[in-house]
Amino acid sequence: MSNCEYKPGLEGIPATQSSISYVDGQQGILEYRGIRIEDLAEHSNFLETSYLLIWGELPSATELEAFEHEIRYHRRVKYRIRDMMKCFPESGHPMDALQASAAALGLFYSRRALDDPTYIRAAVVRLLAKIPTMVAAFQNIRKGNDPVRPWDDLNYAANFLYMLNEREPDQLAAHVFDVCLTLHAEHTINASTFSAMVTASTLTDPYAVVASAVGTLAGPLHGGANEEVIQTLEEIGSVENVDAYLENCLQRKSKIMGFGHRVYKVKDPRATILQKLAEQLFEKFGRDEYYDIAVALEKAVTEKLGNRGIYANVDFYSGLVYRKLGIPTDLFTPVFAIARVAGWLAHWKEQVEENRIFRPTQIYTGPHDFQYIPIDQRRDF
Ligand code: SDX
Repeated sequence: MSNCEYKPGLEGIPATQSSISYVDGQQGILEYRGIRIEDLAEHSNFLETSYLLIWGELPSATELEAFEHEIRYHRRVKYRIRDMMKCFPESGHPMDALQASAAALGLFYSRRALDDPTYIRAAVVRLLAKIPTMVAAFQNIRKGNDPVRPWDDLNYAANFLYMLNEREPDQLAAHVFDVCLTLHAEHTINASTFSAMVTASTLTDPYAVVASAVGTLAGPLHGGANEEVIQTLEEIGSVENVDAYLENCLQRKSKIMGFGHRVYKVKDPRATILQKLAEQLFEKFGRDEYYDIAVALEKAVTEKLGNRGIYANVDFYSGLVYRKLGIPTDLFTPVFAIARVAGWLAHWKEQVEENRIFRPTQIYTGPHDFQYIPIDQRRDF
């Protein structure tokens, strides 16, 4: 029998030391490598931020150019991976397609040299470069079309939107999408990152690390909530129904998607930025019918549950931004994954640099010394 106190969900238990990001949940502060998320959203871009997260400092202009160039060069995926994706059922969820495709990369790049910086860099570049291509490829394949080849003239964010729709995206749309990627890139030891770290700690390959994290991100309590927020707004249907919907949820004790957070006890700073991005898009491309419902729902939840520290989280407004960018609802979580690959890889690198396999303990609650009963002597119930 262990003397350790058991904390469900490991709440408040430090499971690692990390210098990658920091959250102050009481004040609503998020920093990547000490830089405020608001500054990165305004001044940086996703690839520069990824470099910062993974290598620990902002790149020089030459370093950034080299990194961007490598990523452009590695965007294509092997035809066998595309062919494999053609065998996936069209009705399957794109997160499952992404998890399988990320794992499949390990078949093609099977060398494992975790103490070789060249290997680490190649794996980082490949994963950052190919994950968006694989998300877009599945989207095209399930519509009955061929995957769209990446367009080398376009930057990371613009190229993804291009591969989805086969037309060059509007500049504001590409910029907003890039900021969304920056906002979602990293968030301390959340569930999917923890999953990545546990997998990394076995010294397996980085493709398995990312595949395990994608599987974890997919759940509705984590990244999958962004998809469910849109379903909630659809179900509410109009601003007049918000109070009744909320009352019903509270009576049934069901969770309101896009609200609450293990660490933040105030509004998630990323939700504040995403809300502003949504408004920028509405100004240029027209308002979204669900936006007013979302604002009314946020107000009502804050009034009822704010005193318990339940506020809008990152998943609440992201879907409204993605909808306006023409991204289908079931791609919202894969888009989250495209961004979070940067954080997973930063933690993978940090983990293998000073590794000890994760192997916590448990408090056993079952019986001891039970007698084995042969099958012919067991009773049917
Ligand atoms: C992400 O960890 C990260 O950093 C994650 C993330 C990232 O960037 O990686 O920020 C991304 O995953 C955002 C969260 C997306 N999920 C949702 O929006 C789903 C809805 N929210 C929740 O289910 C919940 O708030 C969690 C999962 C986010 C946090 O879960 P906790 O910390 O285990 O909290 P809990 O479920 O134990 O709730 C504590 C109390 C409960 O009430 P009591 O039983 O104490 O009376 O708060 C209530 C809950 O019922 N509560 C909610 C609520 N969230 C918490 N009540 C209604 N609606 C909610 N959304």
